[in-house]
Amino acid sequence: MHRASLFEPVQLGQLYLPNRIVMAPLTRCRAGNAEYAPTAMMARYYAQRASAGLVISEATIVSAQGRGYPDTPGIWSQAQVDGWRQVTDAVHARGGRIVCQLWHCGRLSLPEFHGGAAPVAPSAIDPQWKMLTAQGLKPTITPRALTREEIAATVADFGRAARNAMVAGFDGVEIHSSNGYLIHQFLSPCANQREDEYGGSTDNRARFFFEVLDAVVSEVPAGRVGFRLNPMMHRMHGLTVDEQTLPTFEHLVRRANGYGLAWLHLTEPYQARHTEGLAGWIPELAPYFRPIATMPIVSNGGFDCEKATLWIERGLCDAVAFGRLFISNPDLVERFRAGREVAAWDADTFYQGGERGYLDYPPAVV
Ligand SMILES: Cc1cc2nc3c(=O)[nH]c(=O)nc-3n(C[C@H](O)[C@H](O)[C@H](O)COP(=O)(O)O)c2cc1C
Repeated sequence: MHRASLFEPVQLGQLYLPNRIVMAPLTRCRAGNAEYAPTAMMARYYAQRASAGLVISEATIVSAQGRGYPDTPGIWSQAQVDGWRQVTDAVHARGGRIVCQLWHCGRLSLPEFHGGAAPVAPSAIDPQWKMLTAQGLKPTITPRALTREEIAATVADFGRAARNAMVAGFDGVEIHSSNGYLIHQFLSPCANQREDEYGGSTDNRARFFFEVLDAVVSEVPAGRVGFRLNPMMHRMHGLTVDEQTLPTFEHLVRRANGYGLAWLHLTEPYQARHTEGLAGWIPELAPYFRPIATMPIVSNGGFDCEKATLWIERGLCDAVAFGRLFISNPDLVERFRAGREVAAWDADTFYQGGERGYLDYPPAVV
């Protein structure tokens, strides 16, 4: 049997990747302008990483209501579309491919991002988390539950963002349905206690995701659309795993199979603390979802070259996304290929620092 390698091309829907090393979505909080528009500095950063098989952009806000962090870029205005055009042009000029990750923070946000008003969520339940701000970490508050009219408007915001992503020159989009943000909140009983058709049963909790997906695939060919899941996010970002978690994600993936999507991006559990004996906990996701999902799988979460090679050889996934390693190694593909050392990342400059810790990680000397 042929065993695929990290450096072999792969087709994700309509996207042809010359290698299977994907740059994971990474929020870097560098869109420091009144428009929340991508900048020339961001275009340089992404261009440095264009040898990735696929670049997934940092999470990109679909509407002003979706904000939750300082200086994160949006994709609802013309200025933002123009800003992203510089980025996509720069990546394409280097021969790369880039998709836009579409994001709404929901209750993982603070009043200061909404003129003092409460953030919105499926239900009025405080995630009891601490959010990053320009003045340090601040506790979340009880959000306001979205009305059904507002849910419909939010779905439309995702559709507009998908359309704008195409206008901005992206090769596709990834729906950010993970990590405890709005779509994940709808999926999770601990965050969604609604009594209407968006809460309660598995079908109802998945309804918002599928409405968003329908809105997105009406703007972007399904073969250019992926989605991201982090089913085992536990005691983080206000979420907990429970007995309903796995059935919910299984249902979601099975139904998504019918869309002909380009990829399912699965984040392996970030940490295994507090999970001993936890009902519904599974420590490795790709082996579990591989037989369920008919679309290609991009795995992520704590991989190095060796583990990625092994998982691809074993056929557990089709590509691997690297997050922190892509921050500190713009030429990660070349380093892996040459078997070179990888550089360590500096966590202090993940979400701040201007060009420092952003543009100044050097490529390995060739
Ligand atoms: C600085 C930083 C920013 C991140 N921003 C995002 C984001 O915008 N969207 C997202 O889905 N995940 C985000 N993540 C999660 C990463 O995509 C990835 O899942 C995580 O870093 C684990 O992969 P790794 O072990 O290869 O770093 C972020 C992680 C870090 C460290």
